[in-house]
Amino acid sequence: MNVTKAVIPAAGFGTRMLPAAKAVPKELLPVLDKPTIQYVVEEAAAAGIDDVLLVTSREKKAVEDHFDRIPELEARLAASGKPALLASVAALAERVKVHAVRQAEQKGLGDAVYQAKRHVGSAPFVCMLGDTIFSTTGGAESPTTALVAAYEKYGTSVIALEEVPAEKVSRYGIVGGAMVEDGVIKLDRLVEKPTPEAAPSRLAVAARYLLTPAIFACLEETKPGKGGEIQLTDALQLLLAREPIHGVVVKARRHDIGNPVDWLKTNLLYASRDPVMWKAIEPMVRELLG
Ligand code: G1P
Repeated sequence: MNVTKAVIPAAGFGTRMLPAAKAVPKELLPVLDKPTIQYVVEEAAAAGIDDVLLVTSREKKAVEDHFDRIPELEARLAASGKPALLASVAALAERVKVHAVRQAEQKGLGDAVYQAKRHVGSAPFVCMLGDTIFSTTGGAESPTTALVAAYEKYGTSVIALEEVPAEKVSRYGIVGGAMVEDGVIKLDRLVEKPTPEAAPSRLAVAARYLLTPAIFACLEETKPGKGGEIQLTDALQLLLAREPIHGVVVKARRHDIGNPVDWLKTNLLYASRDPVMWKAIEPMVRELLG
């Protein structure tokens, strides 16, 4: 079955980005001139997805507004010879239909994904966390493209993985399993935010998932876990008892924009890769470095 739908949970409060994320959803905070969420939808489009469901909340209407058209603004930009300013989002809207659904209560990532049940129906779908983007160099594929390729090969749910240092395992979902080919693991365990002692490996769940629709029945059975929230990782552990799940170690570099330090680092890194922008910024960076 072709994978044509993506679900992007973007309902969290973004507490690590306060006060910036109080009235502006963290997913709309920019990396250079584009909101983070736009990079996520672009990654989906590049992997062949043409239908995106944003899971938002009553405080985060602006996330879906970003993908809507503003004819008055478009007309004004066209009249002043600056249509290029909205071109990237307009081009994206032509390739991808963006929908939104609301999570009424913040009951966790698993509950957010569950809100997509009706929209997704009976096909496999991609789940992409809205506060994380990936950059690639040297023609490497994006995590979503890699997940779709692995799904085509194995026909199972596939989770993006990244190796993390032992002291950071307690921040992530951590998986255990056996390598079936270079960079591909057949999973036998998933644990949400374990202690380093309890972690089955140092392979962390990295913000992108390709899920079969069987995940929804598992989410219905998932009790609140870490932090009292319905955890997607716990539902995946239930799914593992019913179907095989693979993990793919991603080759792209992950950028979490949910905290100020990583957000700023991401902006600098992206600026350094943009020749025009870097020409303007580099002298200041050199000056700061003395
Ligand atoms: C979520 C997931 C976790 C995963 C992480 C990064 O945690 O629950 O399993 O490793 O995203 O993708 P959060 O960062 O929302 O606490």
